[in-house]
Amino acid sequence: MSVLLVEDDLSIAIVITAALEAEGFSVVHCQSIAERDRLLGEGAYQALVTDVMLPDGDGIETIDRVRARHPALPIVILSAQNTLDTAVRATDTGAFEYFPKPFDIDELARTVRQAAGAGQGVDLGGEEPLGDGLPLVGRSTAMQTVFRMITRVLRNDLTVLILGESGTGKELVAEAVHDLGHRRTGPFIAVNTAAIPADLIESELFGHEKGAFTGAVARHLGKFEQAAGGTLFLDEIGDMPMQAQTRLLRALQSGTVRRVGGRDEIRLDVRIIAATNKDLEPEIAAGRFREDLYYRLNVVPIHMPPLRDRRDDIEVLARHFLQHAANEGLPRRQLTAEAADLLSRQPWRGNVRELKNFIYRLALLAREDAIDPDSILPLLAVETAPASSEEGSGDLSQAVMRWLAEERPASGTIYQAAAAAFERPLFAEVLRETGGNQLRAAQALGINRNTLRKRLSELALDPEEFTRRS
Ligand SMILES: Nc1ncnc2c1ncn2[C@@H]1O[C@H](COP(=O)(O)OP(=O)(O)OP(=O)(O)O)[C@@H](O)[C@H]1O
Ligand SMILES: [Mg+2]
Repeated sequence: MSVLLVEDDLSIAIVITAALEAEGFSVVHCQSIAERDRLLGEGAYQALVTDVMLPDGDGIETIDRVRARHPALPIVILSAQNTLDTAVRATDTGAFEYFPKPFDIDELARTVRQAAGAGQGVDLGGEEPLGDGLPLVGRSTAMQTVFRMITRVLRNDLTVLILGESGTGKELVAEAVHDLGHRRTGPFIAVNTAAIPADLIESELFGHEKGAFTGAVARHLGKFEQAAGGTLFLDEIGDMPMQAQTRLLRALQSGTVRRVGGRDEIRLDVRIIAATNKDLEPEIAAGRFREDLYYRLNVVPIHMPPLRDRRDDIEVLARHFLQHAANEGLPRRQLTAEAADLLSRQPWRGNVRELKNFIYRLALLAREDAIDPDSILPLLAVETAPASSEEGSGDLSQAVMRWLAEERPASGTIYQAAAAAFERPLFAEVLRETGGNQLRAAQALGINRNTLRKRLSELALDPEEFTRRS
């Protein structure tokens, strides 16, 4: 189901898109009335969500045109002008719902779902509109800050430095800045600056002329030139070799590059976005990263919060990835509220990437269509077991994780099996301490003697064994 979103405030558009995608819609976004009319003419939509004040006119005044051509299309109106006038005008259009800003994003998503269900499904015979909407999912306050930073760099060429742990979405943000920004019609060229061999750095970044060195059989354009008119994304900048840092700095300072073996200074026409999962300040202190390059790159820093600091986003992301998994041909699954809650409480040290991979695996392996905690637990254990081994194995919760991974008790028996697995070493240890004396063991445990005797026989633990050993 497709929704057309007409909203010129990109930070709001990103948030709405994320919420609607989480509801299973595919969202096509545009920023003007002209684009709205063009897109409506080209594709079939189940709902229109529109702002009022748009760069080329008033979303309400021009709605009659939409009504005339698409009488069954439900319309939801958003407005920052929370005046009675706007509200009345919105209602007069027969809009499904009018939302004054700021609005509750969940309520909006619900309304659009109802609206789309109520509409008779205007299929004008057009093709499914292109575009998956905006890719960055998340509604937490931490992500809203990221969205606001993104919107501030869309209409300029300021250098952006994206910082954050691995898997937090740095590359996705770089792509969003490009795709939404004024250079979107130009190329987006990504370079992993840590992976270029030292002797190829200049040629890779700046290009070379034919015959510049042995093997240079033809002219080669470097990444800077390939990205002309667009964006150059310098990834893993914190791991860039020192020599390459010096070359890069020189290019950025002069605003020009020269191909290896070439004469001409070529003016740069790129927006630079750099990213790293390293903390650059200690790298600078240790002499591994040039301070002057750091200041050159760190014009607009965007900090990507780790997933554990925005737990509100985990459920939305999980549903988003389940949807994607289904679109890619994996079985379509639903997450129960309890399962979402369990996922939100995991540490996700690998951040969104780890969550994404986990959800795909879950979609593939879960036995039921509705995913509940029972289907998640065994997979979670596998997930966390190797990562946690570095942190010492004495921790009880890790022992439980490992046990779950190894035993994989059948659904419906997990608690009983876990309790038994826990009681066995516990009772054995206490019996050892009391030399097999059941009365003293029961007292130490604080349980009834008969209960202990019953459990020992159920667990096939023989107290005599501890008498003999002690
Ligand atoms: N907010 C988000 N919404 C949807 N998908 C996301 C989001 N953040 C990250 N992802 C997905 O998670 C994965 C990891 O993201 P990305 O590659 O951008 O991380 P990164 O910060 O560049 O990591 P690294 O430092 O390891 O390179 C990608 O598949 C990306 O699409
Ligand atoms: Mg990356």
